[in-house]
Amino acid sequence: MSRFSSPQDPRFRALNSSVSFDYRLAPYDLEQSRAHVRMLARCQIIEPDDMTELERGLEEIRAEIDGDRFQVLPEDEDVHMAIERRLIEIVGPVGGKLQTARSRNDQVATDLAMFVRAHSLNAQEALLDLMRGLVDLAERHLDWQMPGYTHLQRAQPVYLSHHLLAYFWKFRRDLGRFGFCMRATDDLPLGAGALAGVNFETSRMSVAHDLSFQGVVENSIDAVSNRDFVIDYLSAAATCATHLSQLASEIVLWSSEEFGFCEVSDGFASGSSIMPQKKNPDAAELLRAKAPRVAGGLVALHGVLHALPLTYNKDLQEDKEHLFDAVDTLELSLAAASGMLEEISFDRERLATAAQDDLLGATDVADLLVRRGVPFRESHGIVAGLVRRAVESGRQLSELTEDELGELAPQLGSEFYELLSDGGWIESKVSEGGTSLARVREQLARARHALEEATR
Ligand code: ARG
Repeated sequence: MSRFSSPQDPRFRALNSSVSFDYRLAPYDLEQSRAHVRMLARCQIIEPDDMTELERGLEEIRAEIDGDRFQVLPEDEDVHMAIERRLIEIVGPVGGKLQTARSRNDQVATDLAMFVRAHSLNAQEALLDLMRGLVDLAERHLDWQMPGYTHLQRAQPVYLSHHLLAYFWKFRRDLGRFGFCMRATDDLPLGAGALAGVNFETSRMSVAHDLSFQGVVENSIDAVSNRDFVIDYLSAAATCATHLSQLASEIVLWSSEEFGFCEVSDGFASGSSIMPQKKNPDAAELLRAKAPRVAGGLVALHGVLHALPLTYNKDLQEDKEHLFDAVDTLELSLAAASGMLEEISFDRERLATAAQDDLLGATDVADLLVRRGVPFRESHGIVAGLVRRAVESGRQLSELTEDELGELAPQLGSEFYELLSDGGWIESKVSEGGTSLARVREQLARARHALEEATR
């Protein structure tokens, strides 16, 4: 029997149906159902024989799904209804007991929490791979000099290792964000029923235990309306994808003829259909462009949840595609980024030549004056005058004559030329977290330690 006297309009059916995308929740749904059924029997809400039958049916469905034999029918609105329908086909009317003391509202929230937890763990593992790759890459390019940039203008020289490790720490924060996502799914929504609880003495804690949740959601209304953990995942994923886009964008720039700092391997590049000479860093370009897509999912979910009255509303069905797309995009991006970095090669000469621009020593010349007692603001002006003279006459800073030096910066003597000729200013960045070799070595050790901690 149905409450309705006429069938669903096919246009509504198309709008309402979610099985084409929520089908991927099936493994979680089956695991959840198994735990639920066992609890029902433990609490004597169903007979032990019912439990056996239900478990048998669920197992068979799992085999059908694993073997790609499960048939979704047009009337299956979502994955939960498809599984229930098939269960009744397999075990008969007893299959109808599966939904005792459960609503699709607490059920779908539970599937999603399980999904978010599993994929937060995947993201963490993929991040750790990438971080290990970055540490190795930094180690292999420990003392390779390159220009550091601000405003994409050469600013001060740094070691390539130092630059690469900057990304390591960004990804480490992402690791923490996915850890937060996992804690956001600690509590089990199941058992909340449609919204108010159920009419049976269930044991939610035992289900929580079976499904590896730490506890149960305290409030049934919160349990069925909460999608914070989806927001949390999307937020962590958006930040992580943004970091990937920054790294990728540098690789795109650096692979250009103009920079010539690096070359991506053939495995991560493609050619042009018309220009035979081209080797394009497509992987990096795509990583650069994927981030807004993930951020878009986050914005969309904020839109779905915005001003949504409690408790369950069908709007909540719109959480899934954004989440799934973000998961697929991020997991693929992280894997591709790791692969690309494993095979990338850098051009030591090009990097060094760019770093040897002695204008990059300007800050160090200013600091030399500071050591002579000149206030920094004043020394900044004096060196600016030197730079201007050099640039205007098309010379390097070190090509200024002693007469010019006497005129523009009488406080400076031969140390000016010494400083610029040994190019040693990179090693003068001795402060904690700076680019001097000793500090980068320290940093590398800390990064390795952080990796060990995270994998323990
Ligand atoms: N497919 C639905 C969703 O994804 C499941 C919950 C349906 N609940 C309901 N009361 N219609 O949100």
